[in-house]
Amino acid sequence: MTDQQRKMLLNVNLQGFGQRPAAWRTQDVAGTELTTAEFWAQLGRIAERGKLDAVFLADSPALGNPNLRPLGQVEPFVALQAIGEATEHLGLIGSASTTYNDPYDLAERLLSLDVITGGRLAWNAVTTYAENVSANFGIDQNPDRPTRYRRAKEFATVMRRLWETAATGERIRHRGEFFDLEGRLNVPPSPQGHPVIFQAGGSPAGRDLASATAEGVFTVELLLEPAIKNYRAVKEGAAAYGRNPDDIKITPGLSFVLGGTEEEARRRYDEMETLAPDNYTLNTLSDYLGEEIKELDPHQPIPTEILDREIDETTYHRSVSYHQGIVRWIRKNNTSLRDTLRNFGGYGARIIVGTPEQVADSLEEWFLAGAVDGFNLMADEFPRGLETFVEQVVPLLQAKGIFKTEYTETTLRGVLRSQGHRYPVSAASPTTTAEHVLSTAQRSN
Ligand SMILES: Cc1cc2nc3c(=O)[nH]c(=O)nc-3n(C[C@H](O)[C@H](O)[C@H](O)COP(=O)(O)O)c2cc1C
Repeated sequence: MTDQQRKMLLNVNLQGFGQRPAAWRTQDVAGTELTTAEFWAQLGRIAERGKLDAVFLADSPALGNPNLRPLGQVEPFVALQAIGEATEHLGLIGSASTTYNDPYDLAERLLSLDVITGGRLAWNAVTTYAENVSANFGIDQNPDRPTRYRRAKEFATVMRRLWETAATGERIRHRGEFFDLEGRLNVPPSPQGHPVIFQAGGSPAGRDLASATAEGVFTVELLLEPAIKNYRAVKEGAAAYGRNPDDIKITPGLSFVLGGTEEEARRRYDEMETLAPDNYTLNTLSDYLGEEIKELDPHQPIPTEILDREIDETTYHRSVSYHQGIVRWIRKNNTSLRDTLRNFGGYGARIIVGTPEQVADSLEEWFLAGAVDGFNLMADEFPRGLETFVEQVVPLLQAKGIFKTEYTETTLRGVLRSQGHRYPVSAASPTTTAEHVLSTAQRSN
């Protein structure tokens, strides 16, 4: 199969009522819906109608800030079970922390759900940087990044070995820095053997974890050239571990707001941002930069001292991948702080505000350039934003021949292996030559 005939992977990141911070205010939803099985089942059915490959649910085992977003979402794998019952083909990807779980317990629960859903489950291995989590587990302070990643690597190895015991029936013995155990699981293998492993976190240690063990990676990519570079680095990293680079698929987050015209999409975006809690964007950007920026002159670009600041990966307690991606994006645009904030609505992910054609063209451009195997989609509001994507963008991608029209695989691992690129990618030209009319700040390169 040539690269041109290969199909992109599309997951959808189910972020509660949507990625827009005001999503709960712009549609007719009751806050309690987030805790009903039907809310999640309905999102799964819409995704499956659009032939999407999977849904993804993040996790933070701590109370969020009720002044910023509705609370009360259920634990990801419980929501995924509800989605699994309502669907037949959709992959089900959930985050679970390697810092705040036990591998035997997690391996047993996730393999069980994989068996029950017919081989559609994936575990997104995350190391968790949120500082409000540790006290919930009786720990004074979140361990530093190197410690969290060493534990993550060992955790993933133990998970995989335990899952393999389902098929071999043999006990394993593991002695490591963090875990010391002997045993086997009392769960049968699933149709895909065991859950797929995803990973999120793009610091060098995060990339190493991905290359060593992940079959799918959620990345932070706001610009095309760095995305291509990172794509190659992760694939080469997997090859260096003796793996087939095609066995690891890379899907950065992609946020979108759709409208019938670009102006309409922009108006919709601006209206939704206006309804966000005060200083939401400013605080989010401050957080990702690891710097207080509220006293800065809004009419000037963010000072280079802030952007040039070296990050010490051992002590920096936030995400290196978000920091790097956002700093590069700010430098590239070089706009005033006010305009930077105005365009920051992807909250760390690339955002496209435009027509279905513009969104489809941009997805095609990145896919054919060999920057991604697919995308982790972030809709402005659920369910409406996802429905619009399924009805208006998916048919365009199908017409371009870069997205499937039918489900052909029965397991998530089968889906990942049969789609995305073959590495190395021979870059091809988009089918559309129309110039993208996205504003400068949204341009990919
Ligand atoms: C796209 C993406 C998704 C993530 N999802 C979660 C999550 O659901 N739960 C969590 O605890 N951490 C999550 N993380 C945090 C990472 O696991 C990691 O702790 C963090 O990014 C710091 O590592 P880094 O410096 O390598 O980026 C996510 C990170 C990224 C980049």
